[in-house]
Amino acid sequence: MSQQSLIISGVPWFDDHRRTVNAHGGCIVEKDGLYYLFGEYKTDEENRFAGFSCYSSPDLAHWTFRRIVLPQQKDGLMGPGRIGERVKVMRCPTTGQYVMFMHADDLGYCDPHICYAVCDTIDGDYEFRGPLTFKGEPIRRWDLGVFQDDDGTGYLLVHEGDIYRLSDDYLSAAEQVGEGIALGGEAPAAFKLGGRYWMLFSNKTSWDCNDNFCLSASSMRGPWTYQGLFAPEGSMTCNSQSLFVIPLRTERGMMPMYMGDRWSFPHQASAATYVWQQLSVNHGRLRLAEYQPSWSPISGKAEPFEGRHVDVGFRSDRAGESVSIPFHGSRVALTGRADQWGSYARVGIRRAEAGEESAMVVDPIFVSWYAKLPDSGYRYVSPELPEDDYVLTVTVTGEVPQWTDKSGQRFGSVGSMVDVDEAIVAQ
Ligand code: GLA
Repeated sequence: MSQQSLIISGVPWFDDHRRTVNAHGGCIVEKDGLYYLFGEYKTDEENRFAGFSCYSSPDLAHWTFRRIVLPQQKDGLMGPGRIGERVKVMRCPTTGQYVMFMHADDLGYCDPHICYAVCDTIDGDYEFRGPLTFKGEPIRRWDLGVFQDDDGTGYLLVHEGDIYRLSDDYLSAAEQVGEGIALGGEAPAAFKLGGRYWMLFSNKTSWDCNDNFCLSASSMRGPWTYQGLFAPEGSMTCNSQSLFVIPLRTERGMMPMYMGDRWSFPHQASAATYVWQQLSVNHGRLRLAEYQPSWSPISGKAEPFEGRHVDVGFRSDRAGESVSIPFHGSRVALTGRADQWGSYARVGIRRAEAGEESAMVVDPIFVSWYAKLPDSGYRYVSPELPEDDYVLTVTVTGEVPQWTDKSGQRFGSVGSMVDVDEAIVAQ
C-alpha cells in the first residue's frame, strides 16, 4: 500500500468508504488528537441544502465519515428548498456545548439569515435553534466565519467585514465590534498569529475564484489595516476562495494553514475540492508565497505523489470519448492541464478482469478540468486500494459548466475540454 500521507490540493479526496470527502465551506475543530472537518454536504445535481457533514482525521490526509450532523429540517429556515452554507462550529467554554453557525437562505439567495444549532458532543446530532439574534433581531446576513480568542471570547464575522462579539453562551450576538472593515468582501476567516489578528476575505464572484485579500489589527475591535493580497497577484488565491485557517503543528514548527474552497458548480459533491496551503508572516506581511500542489502535514515540506510515470496524452472535448488506463498498483494519480476551456470527465476504477459496471472498485465521479488560472498538475488521485490489477477510465461529459449569479452575471467555463497528461502509479 502507498504509505504517503499527503495534502494534495485541488483533487477530490476520498473517505473510508471510498466516497468523496463532501464537506465544503466549513471549518476544522480539533479535539483529543483528531481533526474534525465540518462542511456543506453538496449534491452533484442541485444547490439545495442537503445537510452538513462531519469527517475526522488523525493526520489531515485520511478521513473517516462520522455523520450528517445537521440534516435538512422538516420545515422552516433550513427546511426543503432552502440553501445551507458556511457551517462553522465552536465549543463554548462557558457551557461546554458545541455551537454550530450557518447561512440559511432561499434558492435565489434573497432571504439570508445567520442561524445556529447546538449539540453536547462534537459529532452528534445538532439541534437546530433558528436565527441568531443581535438586540433581539435576526442577523439577516450571508457569508460568515467564526473566531475564538485565547480567552474563550467567541466572534461572528460576516461578509463586508462586520464583526460581532458573541454572548458568553455563544447563542446570540452581544455587541458589534467591527463594521464594514472589508466592503465588497465575502468568505471571512480570522486567526491570530504573532500577537496580531488577521482576517481574510474574498471578493464577490459567486462560485468562481478571485484574488483574496487580508487585513490585520492588534485587537478584534480594530482598527483594521488593509494588507493587500496574501497570495501572488493574479493567482486567484491558488484558484480558491478563503474559508478558514488553523494553526498546524509540523516538524518545522507551528504554522497557520490556509483552507480554501475550489468550488465546482454544478457538480460540487464530486468535483469541488480543497486547497490547503501553508501561510507565513514575513516583515509583518501575510504570505501564501509558494503554492505546494502536494505536501506532507507531518514534515510541512513539499512532497510529490510517488510512483511510476506513464504517458497518457489524452485530450478531447467530445461527449462520450474516453481513455482507459490499465495499471498494477495500489493508488493512481492523473495529471493534466485545467483552464478556462476545461470541463468535466467521469473518472472511475474497476478491477482488470471484470468489464462490468458492477465491478467498479471506485465509483465514477465528476472530475473538473476547469480552472480560472491555468494549472498543470494533479487532477485526480485515487483512494488507496489493495495492490492489484485495475483499469481507470476517464470519460468526457461534453458539458460547458456555466452559471449566473443573482445579478445575472455569467461565470464559468467556455469549453468542454479534458486533458490527461500522465498517470502516476504507486505500488
Ligand atoms: C459565494 C459565497 C458562497 C456561496 C456562493 C453562491 O461564493 O461565498 O458561500 O454563497 O457565493 O454563489
